[in-house]
Amino acid sequence: MVSDAMISIDSITKSFGRIKALNNLSLDIGKGELLGIIGPNGAGKTTTIRIICCILKPDSGDVHVGGYSIHEDQIKIKSMIGYLPEEPNLYERFKARDLLRYFAELYGVPKPEINPRIDELLELVNMSDRADDRINTFSKGLRQRIGIARALIHDPPIIIFDEPTMGLDPATASNIRSFIRNLKGDKTIILCTHYMREADELCDRVAIVNRGNVMDVGEPDYLKSKVHGETILKIKVKDLNVDLNKVQDFNSVERVNMVGNEVSVSLKSRIEIPDIIDVFAGNLVSVNTEEPTLEDVFINAVG
Ligand SMILES: Nc1ncnc2c1ncn2[C@@H]1O[C@H](COP(=O)(O)OP(=O)(O)O)[C@@H](O)[C@H]1O
Ligand SMILES: [Mg+2]
Repeated sequence: MVSDAMISIDSITKSFGRIKALNNLSLDIGKGELLGIIGPNGAGKTTTIRIICCILKPDSGDVHVGGYSIHEDQIKIKSMIGYLPEEPNLYERFKARDLLRYFAELYGVPKPEINPRIDELLELVNMSDRADDRINTFSKGLRQRIGIARALIHDPPIIIFDEPTMGLDPATASNIRSFIRNLKGDKTIILCTHYMREADELCDRVAIVNRGNVMDVGEPDYLKSKVHGETILKIKVKDLNVDLNKVQDFNSVERVNMVGNEVSVSLKSRIEIPDIIDVFAGNLVSVNTEEPTLEDVFINAVG
């Protein structure tokens, strides 16, 4: 539970015909937090987001955004959220600047603020030089950038990105990630992604969603430590005749096993690493540590 929740999702359910997309899903997102939602295709990520944004209604359950309910205050909630959909529907024949002006007016941005705001956002997404080009001349990466600028045009306190880097080349994806990183702190952000490294790099907490439910939620490091312990220590030895019980006796050690000349030690914490290595004094070939990845967590939760 999050004490200072900006978004509070309370047991929402949603079916499409026979398909149960969401099954009593609950989740809190703290003010100023960047929360990642990860999960396989069809897990219910986009459906959850569309309900938060008041585009879809749940069959049951409620969501509160800044204290307002999706059942009563849709207009208020929509004004608080900037949303980058999976496939943003941009008006193809508009020029970039005109598209942003259109949405600024739609959201009631005060007139004198509109032009400076557009210039600032075009600058932020590195598109000042394309301001007067039409959307239909833009690549996928440029469209995502304009989509982000559009989501930010009314300076909303909450921003929701649905798969913002999907299908982009690595350099463009990395650019988009740095825009998101730069928004951190001020804004409450939800990032849906199936790129584990992206979630790990950017998010304060990650929720793992599968079959319309939250399987687990927590800081990336916490989720990783639950799968494997915090660190895996790999020690290669010369003499295979080693006493693994001596290693197992350390408090920080979860599991020890040996394959060939390599001893793998799964650790709850790193503090005893020097002492554990001392056990092998005179018998060492090499020592390495590996961190578990969010990928391990994901596969463990949904695989
Ligand atoms: N408009 C819709 N009509 C019918 N089925 C839908 C619709 N939207 C989503 N679904 C189904 O609901 C499930 C969850 O979809 P979605 O929320 O888009 O998952 P995700 O974003 O995690 O990939 C999937 O089985 C999907 O096919
Ligand atoms: Mg989706």
